[in-house]
Order: sequence, then structure tokens, then C-alpha cells
Amino acid sequence: MDSSFWINKWQAGEIGFHLPQVHPLLEKYSQQIFGQGQKVFVPLCGKTIDMRYLSDQGHSVLGVELCEIAAQSFFEEQFQQSVEAESISDDFDAYVLHDIKIIVGDFFKLPQPLEGFNVIYDRAALIALPSDIRQRYVENLKQLCPTANMILITLRL
Ligand SMILES: C[S@@+](CC[C@H](N)C(=O)[O-])C[C@H]1O[C@@H](n2cnc3c(N)ncnc32)[C@H](O)[C@@H]1O
Repeated sequence: MDSSFWINKWQAGEIGFHLPQVHPLLEKYSQQIFGQGQKVFVPLCGKTIDMRYLSDQGHSVLGVELCEIAAQSFFEEQFQQSVEAESISDDFDAYVLHDIKIIVGDFFKLPQPLEGFNVIYDRAALIALPSDIRQRYVENLKQLCPTANMILITLRL
């Protein structure tokens, strides 16, 4: 799948995957699963409100997302603030506010490892990828966050 598939979806507003509230499973289990003040990595983050929730719980959050519309909308909708992009490499721009950073670019090009992430939070990321790429996604995550625990919210078929 090339990146234009997702960019087109965001441009057309076809984002049926986006939840207008915190994911109920995150709300239900986060106290049990998360310790205090974790560094949480959110791959393929979209503009999920879960990032705001995690930040409000005292965690710092790093999301990665292909489409800049998602990052811009996240900060506008959650904080009523427009955030300027900062170029951090040829491949990535970063949007940062409070304890939340969203890196815009291709997850598969992230430099490895990311330092100090305790938790990976995956909601609709693994399952958004074509099945032949999922193994590579998992291997990448292991390289990026070798010591992190992972919370995976997915579907059972
Ligand atoms: C199904 S959505 C889930 C978004 C978010 N996790 C949520 O729960 O709302 C998948 C997201 O992954 C993004 N995406 C797809 N491939 C990507 C890649 N290679 N790198 C970064 N983001 C990607 C898409 O733009 C889309 O926003």
C-alpha cells in the first residue's frame, strides 16, 4: 500500500476509524497497565484522542503519522491551537505541544532505536497495514522500543 492511499483518505475526510471519544478499553485498563509517568509511543496515531488522554494521565506521548492533516487537526481539536511544524530530518516534521509530539512521516523510516519508551500503544495500527507488512511492522517496533511493553487493541476475526 502506498502512502497516497492514506493521504487521500485524510484529504477526503474518510476517517471512519477515528473515534470521537477515548477508546473504552484504554480508559478501562490504563490504570492497571500503565505505571506513573511513562513514555508512550503511538505508532500510526492518526489524531486519536487517546493521545490527549494519555497526556492528561501524566504520560509523555510520541505519535508517528503519515499525514500532516491528522497532526494539525489533533492539536487544533484537542487544544484549540495551531502548531507549527518543525523539520527534524529530510523524512520527518514534528509537531509538539505540552507533552505530546507527533512526528509526521513514514513509520518504516523512523531511525532506530527510539530512546526510553516504556509502552507502545497500538490501536488500529497493526490492523491498518496490509497483512504481508504486519510482520515487518512488529520487527520494526521491536527495534524501535526494545524494552517496551505493548498494548494492542485489535479485532478478533
Ligand atoms: C486505521 S488509522 C488508525 C489511526 C489511530 N491509531 C486511531 O486509532 O484513530 C491508521 C493510520 O495510520 C496512518 N499510517 C498508515 N501507514 C503509515 C505509515 N507507514 N507511517 C505512519 N502512519 C501511517 C494512516 O494515515 C492512518 O491515520
